[in-house]
Amino acid sequence: MNVSIIGTGYVGLTTGACLAFLGHKVTCIDTDDNKIAMLRSGKTPIYEPFLSELLVDAQPNLRFCTRLEGAVQDADVIFIAVGTPPLPDGSPDLRHLSAAARSIGQYYAGNFTVVVNKSTVPIGSGNWVDSLVRESYEEHHGHKANGHFSVASNPEFLREGAALSDSLYPDRVVIGSDDERSLETLYTLYRPILDQTFAPPPYLPRPEEVGAVPLISTDLASAELIKYAANAFLALKISYINEIGQLAGKVGADITQVARGIGLDARIGTRFLQAGIGWGGSCFGKDCAALVSTAAEYNLGMPIVSAAREINKRQREHVVEKLLGELKILKGRTVGLLGLAFKPNTDDLREAPAIDIARKLLDRGCRVRVHDPVAMERFQQEYGDMGALCCAAPEEVADEADAVVLVTEWHHYLELDWEAVAARMRSRILLDGRNALDRARLRRLGFHYLGVAG
Ligand code: UDX
Repeated sequence: MNVSIIGTGYVGLTTGACLAFLGHKVTCIDTDDNKIAMLRSGKTPIYEPFLSELLVDAQPNLRFCTRLEGAVQDADVIFIAVGTPPLPDGSPDLRHLSAAARSIGQYYAGNFTVVVNKSTVPIGSGNWVDSLVRESYEEHHGHKANGHFSVASNPEFLREGAALSDSLYPDRVVIGSDDERSLETLYTLYRPILDQTFAPPPYLPRPEEVGAVPLISTDLASAELIKYAANAFLALKISYINEIGQLAGKVGADITQVARGIGLDARIGTRFLQAGIGWGGSCFGKDCAALVSTAAEYNLGMPIVSAAREINKRQREHVVEKLLGELKILKGRTVGLLGLAFKPNTDDLREAPAIDIARKLLDRGCRVRVHDPVAMERFQQEYGDMGALCCAAPEEVADEADAVVLVTEWHHYLELDWEAVAARMRSRILLDGRNALDRARLRRLGFHYLGVAG
């Protein structure tokens, strides 16, 4: 099938690489010349494990361009995968989505095509995109669009850092459309994934437990709501364990054991119960905020989702309070932060707890030393003027430090030479923001180890 994908962010690029790998003819379009130039020269604009390898394997079926013109006319499916970042009031900024829809209308030539909303968009956007494409078509052609196109919703559930594996071996595929032919087209597109008939790339082997993938086909609004409801549920699962973690700290319980004890109840499940600094990234915060703001349009409060957001905010403040509790005075102190990315295996800094924490510490007069195995360059570009000192090696954040905080649980940090870290510090306060380190060993090495709860 001929597939065009508008937007080469995490979602668009991952989707494009996977579909091209499966044998579809894919055109990835982005208005950012630099990004397209990078991709054409074989470089990836984002850090995502195995993406470079998959792009090489998919290359015969993949092309990159900055213009939509030629990519609309022959496309069986057009994915819109542009960014929908949050506006100050929590609602998503739909400017890119609207521009993409209007461009599709401009170049649409009357062939059968499915326009798919892959970006996370507010409930009701499917209908809105449909009307934008039609309006723009009329403006540019002087008559109504008489060909057959329809808009479908196909939300993604990929996690950064595991994006390719989540795309090739998903738990489910959700397709929302009110048009039978569009559903069939998307079913054909995803068939190799649904039936798991493709030969896996050697670097992304099929997990043993993966069988046929369930397809959920729904109306548009349901598919749109599924995406928000799934992310909000995961976010509140984390906030729930963080709330319990706060109590665990007060009563002297071990939150890691508590999480395991409740998670092994199959009705609850062990995943997304890792207590710590809380969630960051481009989705959870944005989607929870959008859900609350959509509900408000219907005069509906969403107290559970709102509470999840509050607790997440509190976790970050708690890190600073905890350091204050230990150090008594923050002004003039040096704090080392291990990890900047919002989670391991990505260089994404969107809503990363490290940024918030660094800012809070700097505001209180601390010197802040930071390190990240892959996000350092991005940090320097985006937050270079913040005042934090970037260190070339992780141990260097500990130089003359009064405290070190593990912010992102990169594997590399779990295996660090902690003896060397201890030797460099002024006082050996170690705040494990992810409850991920071997606390008994660290205590033996002379650290004053603190978990994030309690
Ligand atoms: C998320 C969803 O998982 C994905 O399905 C959706 O499509 C996009 O949003 P992502 O933001 O890439 O993916 O990361 P995810 O792995 O879900 O982690 C989100 C945040 O939660 C990270 O900051 C992570 O550190 C934190 N987290 C995760 C916890 O604090 N505890 C946990 O137990 C799990």
